[in-house]
Amino acid sequence: MNVTILVGSQWGDEGKGKIVDILSNKFDIVARYQGGANAGHTIVIKDKQYILHLIPSGILREDVVCVIGNGVVIDPIALLEEIHFLESQNINIKGRLFISQNAHLIMPYHKLLDSLKENTDKIGTTGRGIGPCYIDKYARKGIRIVDLLNKEDLEKKIRKNLREKNTLLKNVYNHDELDVESIVKEYLAFDKEIDPYITDVSTYLNNQILAGKNVLMEGAQGALLDVNFGTYPYVTSSNPTSGGACTGTGIPPTKITSVVGIVKAYTTRVGNGPFPTELLDADGELLRKVGAEFGATTGRPRRCGWFDAELVKYSRMVNGIERAAITKLDVLGAFDKIKVCVGYELNGKKLKSFPTDIVRMEKVTPVYETLPGWKSDISDIRSYEELPSEAKNYLDFISEQCGFEISIISVGPKRVQTIEL
Ligand code: GDP
Ligand code: IMO
Ligand code: MG
Repeated sequence: MNVTILVGSQWGDEGKGKIVDILSNKFDIVARYQGGANAGHTIVIKDKQYILHLIPSGILREDVVCVIGNGVVIDPIALLEEIHFLESQNINIKGRLFISQNAHLIMPYHKLLDSLKENTDKIGTTGRGIGPCYIDKYARKGIRIVDLLNKEDLEKKIRKNLREKNTLLKNVYNHDELDVESIVKEYLAFDKEIDPYITDVSTYLNNQILAGKNVLMEGAQGALLDVNFGTYPYVTSSNPTSGGACTGTGIPPTKITSVVGIVKAYTTRVGNGPFPTELLDADGELLRKVGAEFGATTGRPRRCGWFDAELVKYSRMVNGIERAAITKLDVLGAFDKIKVCVGYELNGKKLKSFPTDIVRMEKVTPVYETLPGWKSDISDIRSYEELPSEAKNYLDFISEQCGFEISIISVGPKRVQTIEL
């Protein structure tokens, strides 16, 4: 039995999709535990690219069962689009996808409120309705997947919620009210396609684990976007950190075997908020260009900067990361010299621990060490031994600074561009 949690260690887009796809050939089940269609997980097989938002990245391996846990918030329109897309690619979904009855549904008013809120509080969200949906979940008025099974109840809940949301839209946002009848009609029709996937996922997963099956839990976003541990309020509204894997699936902590961190060889962030190692110069441009750093969900250019070992060390601590997959190492082949942040200074003094408030985080100065680059294309290298000595030196340095072992090195977006140690 192997129950592994895979987490993003920085601000998301570390390459989780690619690594889940690689690892899932050793697992029976892949389960998503939080977030929603704000995620964009890319998998490249041969020359074909797949971007998944809700369905776990194990779906491209036909022996793997995929599960969407109770911690995920599901936009039924995005879900059905993704199912239809995969079916159009001749990927069989039936009998391989289970969706938790307790997962919450994203409603049209969640998406609208998400974008209206951005007019005043600019978090730089993906506009997928994530925050407003989790607000309703924790306010105990959310509508869940299980509600699709009882049309009468579902209709009552939608009408009740819309009464409140329309008052809010009209009086707070000075916006037109939403049309109740069309939303009721749209949501009452989702049962036909979604019902076959609805499952008591926590019982299913625990029974599978008892039967000796291996489960890989796929996080979305990253530790620094966690609502508890990230750069609040510039975060998402869920728990991408490893603890979220238990509450988002019903697999208890005593069943977890290991936590793997997905660590990009430099740093990126989409949306607003502090980013100490951000490069607003030609080096930042080069990282964006060589790394093709544009959002997989929104297409926005990602902010880019040097690797921040201080931040990843904090991420290792809150996630319990023991092993890391280092991604996008090939991108650094464009640089003569590569900098790594090894700590922060504030008012001329070195900080002893990671600043968990954005007031300090926005003011810190990174302390850098400069390492020699390898100035070559490593994307065709398939063994650790063949890597240039400067690349091995870089890996040793970040592994020592962050305090974890490196078990995978990714040197390109494709499945084959991977070195397993
Ligand atoms: P995720 O959200 O963590 O799954 O990451 P994204 O899919 O949003 O972004 C990662 C991007 O980098 C995608 O375009 C991947 O195809 C690509 N990618 C993943 N690993 C590597 C790598 O090792 N090298 C390069 N050059 N690209 C990679
Ligand atoms: P994956 O799984 C990178 C960011 C948004 C914004 C903040 C809040 O592909 O790594 P939200 O829409 O969640 O309320 O936005 O979080 N964000 C991500 N950034 N990768 C993601 O997912 C993200 N999902 C949300 O840009 O700053
Ligand atoms: Mg992404």
